[in-house]
Amino acid sequence: MAVELVLPDPFQHAGERFSFATFGAADLPAIFAIEERSHRYPWRLENFRSSLDSHVCIGLRRGEEWVAYGILSFVVGEAEILLFVVDKAWQGKGVGSRFLAALLKAAAQKAETVFLEVRESNQPAIALYESVGFNQVGLRPNYYPAAQGRREDALLYALDLRYL
Ligand SMILES: CC(C)(COP(=O)(O)OP(=O)(O)OC[C@H]1O[C@@H](n2cnc3c(N)ncnc32)[C@H](O)[C@@H]1OP(=O)(O)O)[C@@H](O)C(=O)NCCC(=O)NCCS
Repeated sequence: MAVELVLPDPFQHAGERFSFATFGAADLPAIFAIEERSHRYPWRLENFRSSLDSHVCIGLRRGEEWVAYGILSFVVGEAEILLFVVDKAWQGKGVGSRFLAALLKAAAQKAETVFLEVRESNQPAIALYESVGFNQVGLRPNYYPAAQGRREDALLYALDLRYL
């Protein structure tokens, strides 16, 4: 069973109103469509389905539209951000920063530390994570598949949620 978090309050940003919602099986077609256009190596639909029961699955909505989503796992005081995506049409507008800040505050209800892994080439994500205080704490060599049969390192980041 996934832990339950009190969802953050809606917020206004760039003239739009955004709200938070847990997503479920009925929302997967829309969420998975975003996933497929956001990554060269997207998660499989199966991974999303199994996450619905075991992880915290929170999306950001503008009206009925899903704009962004995050999947977090929780184990004894530690959280891990398994996925964090802002749909392409909404990137570069400050939505990711607002969504991440709210998710971290929510995660602090159940965890003291949050971890994540990111491709070393993913400069936008690295800049975003470092801007909210994540520090690199490790590296997993050749962790991700990459073009032409190559592999790419994962950078492991952590943030202490107790001092948010
Ligand atoms: C990474 C991602 C979540 C950022 O979301 P976003 O809504 O575009 O981010 P924001 O507009 O809030 O920008 C926040 C910060 O991120 C960084 N950033 C965002 N886009 C960037 C880019 N193209 N290049 C460099 N830094 C960037 C900057 O530090 C920016 O702060 P600034 O505007 O003060 O410079 C988004 O690009 C995304 O979903 N990418 C595809 C999925 C992915 O890679 N997820 C992370 C996997 S670990």
